[in-house]
Amino acid sequence: MAKLIINETNKLGVIAPEIYGHFSEHLGRCIYGGLFVGEDSDIPNKNGMRTDVVEALKEIKVPLLRWPGGCFADEYHWRDGIGEKSTRKKMVNTHWGGVTEDNSFGTHEYMELCSQLGCKTYVNGNLGSGTVQEMSEWVEYMTFDGVSPMAELRKKNGHEKAWNVDYFGVGNENWGCGGNMTPEYYGNEYRRYQTYVRQYDKDRPVKKICCGANSEDYYWTEDVLKTCFEHVDPNAHGFMDLLSLHYYTLPEGWLPKVSATEFDEELWYKTLWAARHIEDLINRHGAIMDKYDPDKKIGMSVDEWGTWFEVEEGTNPGFLYQQNTMRDALVAGISLNIFNKHCDRVKLACIAQTVNVLQSVLLTEGDKMVKTPTWYAFRLFRDHQGGELLESAVTGAGEAGVSDDKKVPKLTESVSVKDGIMTITISNLSMTDPEELTIQFAEDRAYEVIEARILKGSDVHDRNTFEEPDKVSDATFDGIKANDGKLELKVPAASVILIRVK
Ligand code: AHR
Repeated sequence: MAKLIINETNKLGVIAPEIYGHFSEHLGRCIYGGLFVGEDSDIPNKNGMRTDVVEALKEIKVPLLRWPGGCFADEYHWRDGIGEKSTRKKMVNTHWGGVTEDNSFGTHEYMELCSQLGCKTYVNGNLGSGTVQEMSEWVEYMTFDGVSPMAELRKKNGHEKAWNVDYFGVGNENWGCGGNMTPEYYGNEYRRYQTYVRQYDKDRPVKKICCGANSEDYYWTEDVLKTCFEHVDPNAHGFMDLLSLHYYTLPEGWLPKVSATEFDEELWYKTLWAARHIEDLINRHGAIMDKYDPDKKIGMSVDEWGTWFEVEEGTNPGFLYQQNTMRDALVAGISLNIFNKHCDRVKLACIAQTVNVLQSVLLTEGDKMVKTPTWYAFRLFRDHQGGELLESAVTGAGEAGVSDDKKVPKLTESVSVKDGIMTITISNLSMTDPEELTIQFAEDRAYEVIEARILKGSDVHDRNTFEEPDKVSDATFDGIKANDGKLELKVPAASVILIRVK
């Protein structure tokens, strides 16, 4: 029998709400049709933003939205997306399907969306094909409240007050689509560009994000940090606030891409193993960061994560539109538990992407919208945001899997506390077997379960479609027995569980 031991007397740090962030790129139907339909659309909207989508995102308490890319960011010129819409420049979205980008969603629209969501902003700047001046002026346009050419331009375009830019990415994937740079070259460019990302309001600092590695590219992390920290006071505030890491769950590597909906047991475990691998990356990139930043002042920003499967049949391959099953919900459960447990270093993470792209939380088609199993996983985890991580460990659950090299721990968990209420999230990674679990607490007192919910399909391939939008959803879980200060339950196979305890 497995045990989950929780030591509520040992608090291990605050889980930054930003760990539950989302990524929205000008890619396929993420922005256009997904988040934004325009003021004149028949689809219900407020200032162009889809009401159904905004409401669904608010329900999972989206704390932060990253925009405008991704690869798109390093060819985005922000001035094309401001001012009178009919005169905005049209461009080719070369990365994503070669479609026309009409720039009707630009800075003002993004800020409006974040204000409707009540979330923090994470704007990704263009280092790959933009100038230092362009980047610097964008920051001035968005954040300066005094008298200046950019502040005047913003006011002329209808926005009097400066916005908050909570996070600013100085380039994206500059080892690849963002300019194919070497780490040393990028490190030097980072130093130069970030200098001109000015802090106009000391009370509302812009946190700067340096482009980190892809997956296992430890060489990039080492060399970028070495270059960045040479002849720089490592304690200089605001030189670098976060370093990014991008990692996608690709069960068979980049090729062949596997189906988002058809999988056997072997592929199930390969996928979950690949999702679990992110913990190795956090540890190893984290160890390199520790050398330069032993006090962990620089956060890790896992600002692109999620599954990357084959696109839905008949859709534009450049749009990365994929379905989402219980397997994706498990990937979310695994990843979010890992991020929580590494909250000392991981300060921000964004699932890729919010709507209609890769591991989306929402899918839309015309005026219809469905919540994916991943959305439900995010809802179960939402109360961890801002909580204090508690020491916890599972013993005796063993592993699950069909091949020796792709075994995964059967159960993963994390526990936090906020306002006297503990939030416990547990995933059972076994595709077939339930697990009897006893939850044991360090303190000798009575514990009351105030909420328990479970996310589980009738089959692991279950998904929500426009024809059957509610096939997968979470439900009240009434299988918990309190026994002598402990909680006993059977965790069903392939499930994600939330338990809230007082
Ligand atoms: O999320 C899709 C793409 O994946 C992003 O544009 C890029 O940053 C990454 O390679």
